[in-house]
Amino acid sequence: MTSNGTLSNTSKNTLRDVLTRLEKEGAGLGHFNVSDQVLLKAVVAAAAETKLPVLIGASEGERDFFGARQLAALVKSEREQSDVPLFLNADHTHSLAKALEAAKAGFDAVTIDFSALPFEENVARTKEAVQAIKAVNPAILAEGEIGDIGTGSEIKETAQGGKLSTPEEARQFVEATGIDDLAPAVGNMHGMLKSMVQGKAKKHLDLERISQIKKAAGVFLTLHGGSGTDDEHFRKAIAAGINIIHINTELRVAWRESLDKSLARDLNEVVPYKILRPVVDSVKQVVSSRLRLFHGQTVSPEAVETVA
Ligand code: G3H
Ligand code: ZN
Repeated sequence: MTSNGTLSNTSKNTLRDVLTRLEKEGAGLGHFNVSDQVLLKAVVAAAAETKLPVLIGASEGERDFFGARQLAALVKSEREQSDVPLFLNADHTHSLAKALEAAKAGFDAVTIDFSALPFEENVARTKEAVQAIKAVNPAILAEGEIGDIGTGSEIKETAQGGKLSTPEEARQFVEATGIDDLAPAVGNMHGMLKSMVQGKAKKHLDLERISQIKKAAGVFLTLHGGSGTDDEHFRKAIAAGINIIHINTELRVAWRESLDKSLARDLNEVVPYKILRPVVDSVKQVVSSRLRLFHGQTVSPEAVETVA
């Protein structure tokens, strides 16, 4: 850990610095969730392959499975060997205790998520969590959430999500809580419909609303529920003010499909690293393809295929 407590190697490479630089370049930072070391290896390999920074995310459920301190230690170790910045976010954190646990473990960012509560309660609980984690480490990036975009990075039967966020709510929420980064509801949704997994349908965003919210909020913006979003909408959302994009279900779909295939290839194969190597490669392809898109690079048709 650095003297300011985060996992960053140098002060030049803080998450805030990278976000500021990417915003100037018109690029977005990819946030990819991991629940195990296969997914972590895939995300780190994609960052190395593309030479682009990544934000590694783990929700409360993913952290419970992995171990928050164990994940922080692994990311610290990967970072020491990496030429590109790797950051770690405590995604969808629903309690003060879990936010503090992540801050003390050395996470670079915490997504404080009380968005299921009424607005005033969301403000009060978020503000309390921001103050608590900044008391542990002032350099931590504190994200707050407003609106309803459904829950769970899973394959869903029907669309979820409620009312979209307004610029006025965004302004009030940022002013009252002291967050560094806001995650609004702008047509995004957690998880994917079956038609999206099959590549037959895409999520579309309210781009005008994103730019109005950016002006009103004046902070970094995060787009949750990125899986299955139309490529052109991703590009335009970044141009409208989105700084961080969360992708999870697409990785889970690639993980599951490639694991099924790998297991079916030879029923007598029992060597874990032989079974799991193709899984790492498949997830890596999805992450690399999304990273290139968020940085305005051309994505090959084969790479798009693996995402669809
Ligand atoms: O926090 C995680 C994400 O918002 C991921 O959403 O599963 O729709 O990509 P997704
Ligand atoms: Zn999310």
